[in-house]
Amino acid sequence: MTDIVLLPGDGIGPEIVKSVCTILDKAGADLCYHTYDIGQTSYDNCGKLIPEETLEAIKKYKVALKGPVTTPVGKGFRSVNVNLRLAFDLYVNLRPAYSIQNISKYKNVDIVTVRENTEDLYIGEEHEIENGFEAIKRITIPATDRIIRYAFEYAKNNNRKKVTCIHKANILKNSDGLFLKRFKEIALEYPEITPDDKIIDNMCMQLVMYPEKYDVLVAPNLYGDIISDLIAGLVGGLGLVPGANLGTDVAIFEAVHGSAPDIAGKGIANPIALLQAACMMLEHIGKNDIAKKITNAILKTLNNGQSLTKDLGGSATTLELTNAIISNL
Ligand code: NAI
Repeated sequence: MTDIVLLPGDGIGPEIVKSVCTILDKAGADLCYHTYDIGQTSYDNCGKLIPEETLEAIKKYKVALKGPVTTPVGKGFRSVNVNLRLAFDLYVNLRPAYSIQNISKYKNVDIVTVRENTEDLYIGEEHEIENGFEAIKRITIPATDRIIRYAFEYAKNNNRKKVTCIHKANILKNSDGLFLKRFKEIALEYPEITPDDKIIDNMCMQLVMYPEKYDVLVAPNLYGDIISDLIAGLVGGLGLVPGANLGTDVAIFEAVHGSAPDIAGKGIANPIALLQAACMMLEHIGKNDIAKKITNAILKTLNNGQSLTKDLGGSATTLELTNAIISNL
């Protein structure tokens, strides 16, 4: 049995975590779950967003499967996700997305977004100035180099041909200018991979018009966050796409989507994004055959149009979709 930390989180988190664990167990993943509180749920229970014992467990077991957590908009505390990423120096946010035959509006998407996960505007340094506020966007050479190198290494190891750097260096000449400059320099170390770069606004248009032209994307934190939601939309929505937060020691796997308060508690959330994240986790811990078995069951279920939840155009419940995936294992 492999030990993993389970963080159900907020909103639809506990519902989709339950579904995913049922599928993992039926597929024979042979995992021992250590469940800990995090987020608003934890705050309500013990007054802490990330209790010390949760951090200790992640430190001990090194691999976690996490449900989404709620962050108040425009007020309140700093995001639990941002704090977790900083606590374990999870500098890579890896978000693969690909078309699914009978589900995706776009049939030719196969893109992996490599998002820098520790700096940019997400450092949350905002200052009051006369008549308003200003926010600091931090781009440093060490954080830039390691994410760009990760993107090229990922491309090399996964038989990918092109890496596109996303930036706004026409306006942010120093910060994004540095990101682009280091990209071009590091690209020289990987002659077998085609380097490409696009300004973020053009990139959005390109992805909607010609997604088939893109392969691996590397981006500073904010552009990576936005663009990966856009790509999720191309392949069928937030209910489908996973993400991995990776550091040198710890890895936390989660869906790209949030806690979906609008549908929480209704039993209609789509568990597939978190299930895909669990498959990334299984590959990370060397259980590739189980990951493949689950991925095949997901694709079969989706392609058959079997028990689809509302976000995918159906009317099934989380439980019905869970059972359909299990029947296809
Ligand atoms: P959201 O991703 O929670 O929801 C956006 C829309 O997609 C909603 O209509 C929701 O119902 C739908 N949706 C999302 N996941 C779904 C699923 N699995 N099945 C079916 N429909 C799904 O984004 P929103 O509403 O902007 O954020 C809600 C909260 O989540 C906020 O507090 C935000 O800070 C937090 N959040 C947390 C993340 C994380 O923990 N990794 C990531 C993104 C947002």
